[in-house]
Amino acid sequence: MDVDLTGRSFLKELDFLPEELTYLLDLADELKAARREAREEQLLTGRVIALIFEKTSTRTRAAFEVAAHDQGAHVTNFDPSGSQIGHKESVADTAEVLGRMFDAIQFRGTSQGDIERLANHAEVPVYNGLTDDWHPTQMLADFQTMREASGKEANDLSYAFCGDLRFNMARSHVVTAALLGSDIRLAGPESLSIPGEVLEAAREIAALTGASITVTDDAAEAVTGVDFVHTDVWVSMGEPREVWASRIKELMPYRVDEKLMSAAGKRARFMHCLPAYHDLETQIGADIAGHTGLTGGLEVTDGVFRSERSIVFDQAENRLHTIKALMVATLAGPDDR
Ligand code: CP
Ligand code: NVA
Repeated sequence: MDVDLTGRSFLKELDFLPEELTYLLDLADELKAARREAREEQLLTGRVIALIFEKTSTRTRAAFEVAAHDQGAHVTNFDPSGSQIGHKESVADTAEVLGRMFDAIQFRGTSQGDIERLANHAEVPVYNGLTDDWHPTQMLADFQTMREASGKEANDLSYAFCGDLRFNMARSHVVTAALLGSDIRLAGPESLSIPGEVLEAAREIAALTGASITVTDDAAEAVTGVDFVHTDVWVSMGEPREVWASRIKELMPYRVDEKLMSAAGKRARFMHCLPAYHDLETQIGADIAGHTGLTGGLEVTDGVFRSERSIVFDQAENRLHTIKALMVATLAGPDDR
């Protein structure tokens, strides 16, 4: 099938067919190689892209900015206090305005409803840079990294996600693994389980793609024999600090430590979307260590994070190549690519 994503938005993984996701991953590989070999061609000269950040970001913002720069495009940043959106002007009105000035809009915020409204009113591609529900651009980077590190196609990959299964990362992983035909195992406590409608949608897709989905409360069982062990922070952006105490109790059995990596087996590598609480070099990490005595890391131990099995910085770098692929595929004409 010829894939043409010109003009398309990426609000959630389900917006794209498996072959469209694979096309983006292949394009990201090509763009990564071209950048490394100093033969990248600029396909987005003259384009302008709005980046709206209701929530903070390092990787996503850096990836959009550097990708745009590499491709000859310009960006304008609207940081959490830098625009009228939401407080003085509706999302719909903002979308109408930005859609007349920009060629595309990236949005990071709380509400999936807001990004859907942006896309409905902007008439330019809108990219989801993270909402509470989905983190689709992260999925592109995670699959590029897993394909690269294992040499396997997505439908041969087997991986586990351990931790909070209610939030964006676990939700996005189960749907993406289903679309791409992977073997995914989700491990977390009943109290933080994957929403039923997300699991149901993923299982329906898996029946068509051959993906395998396992949900368990047993982390050691989930990771046995996998290629990759993923986790995410235990308290996500926008959640109150007060939940830390209960979250630590609920999620300690799912912490990625040396024992869990041993249970996974020799082949398994460690992945994390970042930022991670693995040492005392962050305010929150130090604060929690002060209260709990957990000095060696929260969702992942410092030992695992810094080990040779950890490929988190390759994963972070791949945000750049995959976000670039998304912008090139949706903004450059098909004849330019
Ligand atoms: N993984 C990720 O989205 O990182 P940032 O929050 O730094 O953008
Ligand atoms: N679940 C995390 C992901 C950060 C990239 C959050 O939403 O804060």
